[in-house]
This record gives sequence, C-alpha cells and structure tokens, in this order.
Amino acid sequence: MIGDFTYNTPTTLVFGKGVVKGLPEALARYGKTVLLTYGGGSIKKMGLYDEVMRLLRGFKVVELSGIEPNPKYDPSVVTGARLCKENNVDVILAVGGGSVLDCSKAIAACAMYDGEGWDLISGKVKATAALPILDVLTLAATGSEYDCGCVISNTALSDKRGYVDPLLYPAVSFLDPTYTFSVSPWQTACGTADAINHVLEQFFSRPTSTFNDGIMIAAIRSLMDNVLVALKEPTNYEARSELMYVCSWGCNGILANGSGYSGWPMHSIEHALSAYFDITHGAGLAIITPRWMREILSDRTMERFVTLGRSLFGFDASLPDAEMAEKVINAFYSFFESTGIPMHLAPLGVTADKIEEMADHILAYDDTSQDWAYVPLDKPALIRILKASM
Ligand code: NZQ
Ligand code: ZN
Repeated sequence: MIGDFTYNTPTTLVFGKGVVKGLPEALARYGKTVLLTYGGGSIKKMGLYDEVMRLLRGFKVVELSGIEPNPKYDPSVVTGARLCKENNVDVILAVGGGSVLDCSKAIAACAMYDGEGWDLISGKVKATAALPILDVLTLAATGSEYDCGCVISNTALSDKRGYVDPLLYPAVSFLDPTYTFSVSPWQTACGTADAINHVLEQFFSRPTSTFNDGIMIAAIRSLMDNVLVALKEPTNYEARSELMYVCSWGCNGILANGSGYSGWPMHSIEHALSAYFDITHGAGLAIITPRWMREILSDRTMERFVTLGRSLFGFDASLPDAEMAEKVINAFYSFFESTGIPMHLAPLGVTADKIEEMADHILAYDDTSQDWAYVPLDKPALIRILKASM
C-alpha cells in the first residue's frame, strides 16, 4: 500500500563528466560573492580546486578550508557563518564530500541568524532564511547533495545532531563521477555502507509497497555490485557513476514515499558513536547493521528478512523463514567485511565504558523508543546492540 505523502526535492542535479563547466552560469543567478568551502585538501590534490578557481574568475571568492569529517560546529560552522556576515556573501559553493556539504548547509542557515547558531541546529529555534548553496560532490555516500539535512557535531556537548529544514536543499548539485576516482578504498567502502544503510532504514518500515521494495532492492543490489568493482578498479567510470547516482537517493525521501517512517534507529545509534568517538559514519553503520537486525528479528519483522533473502540475495524460496533471516543477517555481515570494514567497534577506538551513557544520549535526542518506530528500542535493547557490536 502507498500511504499519504507530500514529496518535493527542489535541487537540480547536473550529472556527468565535465559538468562543472556549468558552474559560473549557475552561480551567477545567486550573486557575485561566493563562500567556497572545502575539506582537508583532497580537492587540491586532485586538481579540482584549481579548476573551480578558474571557473570563479569573475566572482569575489572568500574561502573556508579544513572542514573536518564529522564537521564541527566550532570552529567550522561558526567561522563560516562569520565569514558570510563579514563579507556579505551571496551564495555558498561547497566542494567535497558529505561533511563539507553538511557544514555548508549549517553555515547557510547560521549566516542568516543573529543568535547562537547551535540553537538552529539543535532545533530550539526555527530558521527563517538560509543562503543558497551549490555544490560539487567528490564522494558518493550521504546523499547530502540531494536532501535538506545536515549532521553537525558539537564537541563541547559530545553531541552530533541531524538538522533538517527544506531551506537547506542545495539549489544545484554538480555530480561528476570522475571526481570520486581518488576516493580511498576505506572511504569508498564506508560511503557505500552508509548508502546501503539509508535504504535499509527505509526498507524496514510499515506499511510498505511492492514498488518501494523494488526500487530499494535495486538500489542495494547496485551499491553492492558496484562497490566491489570500484574497490578493484577505482577509475571504473561505470561503477563510480552508479554509486554516485544511487547514493544521491538515500535521504531525500523518494525511496519511502507512502511507506511508514521507521525512526532511522541505526543512524541514531551511529550518531552517538561518532559524537563520542569521532568514528567514520559508514563504518559504524556497517558494524551496527547485523546486530540491529538480530535484535529486531521476530515473527512480526520476519517478512522483511524473507523478502530480502528472496529478492536481494536470491536465496532458495523454500528455506524456512528463520533460516532465511539468519542467512540474510550473515550475508550483510560478510559483505561489509569483504569491503574492508572491521566488523567490531573496539578496533575503531570505541570503549565499552561509554555504552550506557551513549544509550541515555540516544534516548534523550532521538526517536528510537517511540511507539510509532518500526521496532521501538528501549535502553536495554540499545545496550545489547552496542555490546554485541564491540
Ligand atoms: O577533507 P578532505 O581532504 O576533502 O578529505 C575527505 C575526508 O577525509 C575525503 N575525500 C572526499 N572526497 C575525496 C576524498 N578523498 C579523496 N578523493 C576524493 N574525491 O574523504 C574523507 C571523508 O569525507 P566526508 O565528507 O566526511 O565523508 P562522507 O561524504 O561520508 O560524509 C560523512 C558525514 O556526513 C554525515 C555523516 O554523519 C558524516 O558526518 N551524514 C550526512 C547525511 C545527510 N546530509 O543527509 C546523512 C548521512 O546519514 C550522514 O549522517
Ligand atoms: Zn548515513
């Protein structure tokens, strides 16, 4: 069944080799003064910084560099918002991965707000305006290029918050798969794990529909097949282009139009892990996935596992349901492991002494325990998942 929904993604996607040449024309619609945001230097190594600067010759460019993975409110968002105000910036151009895009979205809102920016990010105050954002994406993963969310860490509060507002949709996202050729095997694996998890967060919901199941299973299949090719052949355009496009659909809602809302429990858990231990988002999700699946497996959820077993993995349809579910959970575990992700949290630096605190943190900030969640998770359940993931 398809339930009621409203859907609108106002972002223009421009996809393909060399599309970045359209940047000056697209930017000019929004003004002359640009805040150019980027991360720790990958765009300089791959020559993209020079290319963008050439294209921006007719513009006044203010730069914010050094945006961290798991972008930080202070210094990155605070500095970016200050630069926008001091220089009367008209438009933000984000060049990088999800962290650069997310930070730029938060800057876009904070630049138009006179109070403490964290009030917007934490949902205490609703933004009334945001600067326009254009981006050139260099890493296939989060879907930030096609959604209106951003995720910002506040180190002082050990907090990592998802901040969602339609004001934050990028105006135009330029997606050239060749810019992802230089992404490391680790980030390629983690980015794909993130995107697979985005689909699973929406697949495990109620009600569902044949159509949504079909596009979600196709998305996971494409991600699983193409990441294995990209890991072996980083410059394989076919594989990188499919990864880039499929990842873009992760979080903008289209995969779940008319489906129930699941509460995105694995993301809630992972955001606490990243807030406390600054781990790579996709790695945390890959590790949590099989443990969360095992926690929620019951007669009530069995049908989802059986559908994945039959339609995604092609397992023998005559297998008993419980056996099929076990094979599905093991298949995800082995798949993530085969991409190079260590399937335990301890090697990533997570320590067991924080598990209880993280469980409290998740319950304080997220929806995982609510009745309407696909499977509500209380504190003992969260602790079981985290302990099993160690
Ligand atoms: O900083 P630089 O030098 O650019 O290096 C980055 C960074 O070290 C590097 N990289 C990016 N493109 C590259 C490259 N290296 C070589 N060649 C390239 N072409 O990769 C590293 C990781 O980058 P990052 O942007 O942090 O990765 P990702 O895109 O996975 O973003 C992760 C962040 O997005 C949030 C996560 O929580 C995390 O903070 N998420 C955002 C979402 C959204 N907006 O919708 C949803 C997601 O669920 C997620 O929570
Ligand atoms: Zn994610």
